[in-house]
Amino acid sequence: MPDTFTAYVARTDDGVFSRGIEELPVEALGTGGVLIAVHRSTVNYKDSLAASEKGRVARISPLVVGIDLAGEVLESDSDEFRPGDLVMASGYDIGVAHHGGLAQLARVPADWVVKLPEGISLDEAMVIGTAGYTAALSVVALQDHGLLPGAGPILVTGATGGVGSVAVSILAGLGHEVVASSGKASAADWLKGLGATTVIDRAELTETPKPLMPATYAGAVDCVGGDTLAGLVARLAPGAAVAASGNTGGAKLDTTVLPFILRGVSLLGIDSATTPIARRRMVWDRIAGDLRPHGLDAIRRDIALADVEAALDEIAVGGVQGRYLVDTTA
Ligand SMILES: NC(=O)c1ccc[n+]([C@@H]2O[C@H](COP(=O)([O-])OP(=O)(O)OC[C@H]3O[C@@H](n4cnc5c(N)ncnc54)[C@H](OP(=O)(O)O)[C@@H]3O)[C@@H](O)[C@H]2O)c1
Repeated sequence: MPDTFTAYVARTDDGVFSRGIEELPVEALGTGGVLIAVHRSTVNYKDSLAASEKGRVARISPLVVGIDLAGEVLESDSDEFRPGDLVMASGYDIGVAHHGGLAQLARVPADWVVKLPEGISLDEAMVIGTAGYTAALSVVALQDHGLLPGAGPILVTGATGGVGSVAVSILAGLGHEVVASSGKASAADWLKGLGATTVIDRAELTETPKPLMPATYAGAVDCVGGDTLAGLVARLAPGAAVAASGNTGGAKLDTTVLPFILRGVSLLGIDSATTPIARRRMVWDRIAGDLRPHGLDAIRRDIALADVEAALDEIAVGGVQGRYLVDTTA
């Protein structure tokens, strides 16, 4: 075991913010839990906030950034995991108040760890990552609400991003008609390749803000929030639901009660970070099974730790198409 490891770190020292690659002592990870040789990580929107001075997400300094990690167990204080097991860990305090995954090593409590499901590789687990897991949680929430294939078109917003692109793929794989909303006109063919039937310009959802618009969608996965979510709620069919997880388009929701009381629509909140571990493991098993997203090779963008800074800047402005896969060993 080396004495140090390489990590992407955000820190505020004496009020001065900085970020970049550092060599940290292994003791910085503390003791106990599961020590993991991280092989792959990814870059999520939340990481761009944790690695930014004004993001108000990081709760410790220094912080190894990265809410997602996958690799091989080196040590474990739990009988559930043994050296050599392939595992992943995401959410909870990881990459926020506990050192995260953009690093060669991580140590996390055993009840944050998920064994890699059969049929999913470390690469695939991190192409999916928290964003894709959130897409899967959103689909499960819509299914729990009663959504079945054939119900009508399902709208996915922020469709070229992490949550959106995986949601398009999962929903299309389940046999749904998927309408992808995107601000990137050049990505229409790419989205159709993932399974979208139709691609609309994101402006369509916000240009005529009325409490009720034609009832069009049998369900929706939204990671944009703001005016996009308000426009989407106004277009849900009677009894339909939207699974809402994000706020890249704004945190304020300016809508009326009319879609809720005249069409009986539902707003389902999605929080991936706090999912109880038993449910997290169950949803990952489903990701390896009936929810398995296809087209992951088209979604993935391979980078090394040295490229993380540019990726964080790109995702901060909504510029990413697909998912970064970080080889933390490179
Ligand atoms: N609740 C949870 O547990 C959870 C988990 C994961 C992520 N999230 C949240 O979900 C959101 C998306 O995360 P992500 O990792 O998928 O990020 P991402 O890869 O950056 O995707 C976000 C997408 O939103 C669209 N977008 C960006 N700026 C926009 C704007 N001003 N107005 C409308 N659309 C805009 C873009 O897609 P187009 O160009 O295609 O429109 C962008 O690619 C973030 O807010 C993140 O914090 C929440």
